[in-house]
Amino acid sequence: MKALILSGGRGTRLRPLTHTTAKQLIPVANKPILFFVLEQVRAAGIDDIGIIISPETGQNVRDTVGDGSRWGARITYILQDTPGGLAHAVKTAREFLNDSPFLMFLGDNLIQGGVEGLVRAFNDAGVDALIQLKKVPDPRQFGVAVLDERDRVVQLIEKPQNPPSDLALVGIYLFSPVVHRAIDRIKPSWRGELEITDAIQELIHMGHRVEARVLSGWWLDTGKKDDILEANRVVLDEYARRDIRGEVDGGSQVVGRVEIGTGSRVVNSLVRGPVVIGSNVTVIDSFIGPYTAIAGGSHLERVSLEHSVLLENCRLVDVERIEDSLVGSNTRVCRSTARRRALRLFVGDDAEVVI
Ligand code: TTP
Repeated sequence: MKALILSGGRGTRLRPLTHTTAKQLIPVANKPILFFVLEQVRAAGIDDIGIIISPETGQNVRDTVGDGSRWGARITYILQDTPGGLAHAVKTAREFLNDSPFLMFLGDNLIQGGVEGLVRAFNDAGVDALIQLKKVPDPRQFGVAVLDERDRVVQLIEKPQNPPSDLALVGIYLFSPVVHRAIDRIKPSWRGELEITDAIQELIHMGHRVEARVLSGWWLDTGKKDDILEANRVVLDEYARRDIRGEVDGGSQVVGRVEIGTGSRVVNSLVRGPVVIGSNVTVIDSFIGPYTAIAGGSHLERVSLEHSVLLENCRLVDVERIEDSLVGSNTRVCRSTARRRALRLFVGDDAEVVI
């Protein structure tokens, strides 16, 4: 069994961060989402892993992930020259996948409990495709599956206006090599992409067995800013522990599950977990509230910050209340000392500022 992790795409909904980084490398709880995916793939016993990359962010992914030895995996990078859809990504990886069955995992998706059970179910069921589904309140924005009474997939519909079921396709699939024949038979959709839902539908038309399993735990698809904040909240809730390596002075209080990395200092501040603070971060005269992740090298002074994600080397000074925010690396936010109160912005392309 091989794995194919999709880490290409445009990431338009996460601009401006995706102007400079791959969206799969945006951290939740200070760890790139792609690292969680790699851990889950390895935990399922798969060590031969292909990663689809794009020309824009591929080098960034290669530099961050490396050869995979830190996960005990062998990684092959596969360049997809254009984001032509999920089935196009499989087509691009044809040579790597060869005649092996494979797990396909979108590099910006996370599920509770990992994929070990799903991989086992695929091997036991002897089907040609097994797809992971999740009940969602509003299926109209997802690919939706209709099942028969034996959990066999009878129909798949991409973003239906009138959803025939509430079962959305999570970005995790298992395929036998017969999927390549199905992909060869499909045409691009109205949005010009080779859709994996069309390939699976084609498998059904060809008479192959496609089954599904419904996930009971959480599923996080981190395509937009609020999704990243939600992922950060869920992951901190589940994984944060108390581990204080940096210094906390006598005037500070650190309450609950808080991680503070080496070389970091908390001075005259209140930190209320779950919170993760990376290394070499300074927090002075501040309040850091629950569900916050601060990456390494940042400086916070007279700041109140809650339910937010800060990337590396940010500088926040004299800002009373920041909530529900996702802040890119090397950002500075401060209060002006000028008498004339005004907002003075120097904001990158596609940024969003809510005042
Ligand atoms: P999407 O989130 O559907 O697409 P996108 O990354 O282009 O994002 P946006 O809509 O904001 O522009 O992609 C799901 C995952 O699959 C994501 O991790 C990127 C990856 N992907 C590829 O690797 N190749 C592709 O051709 C496409 C469409 C997506």
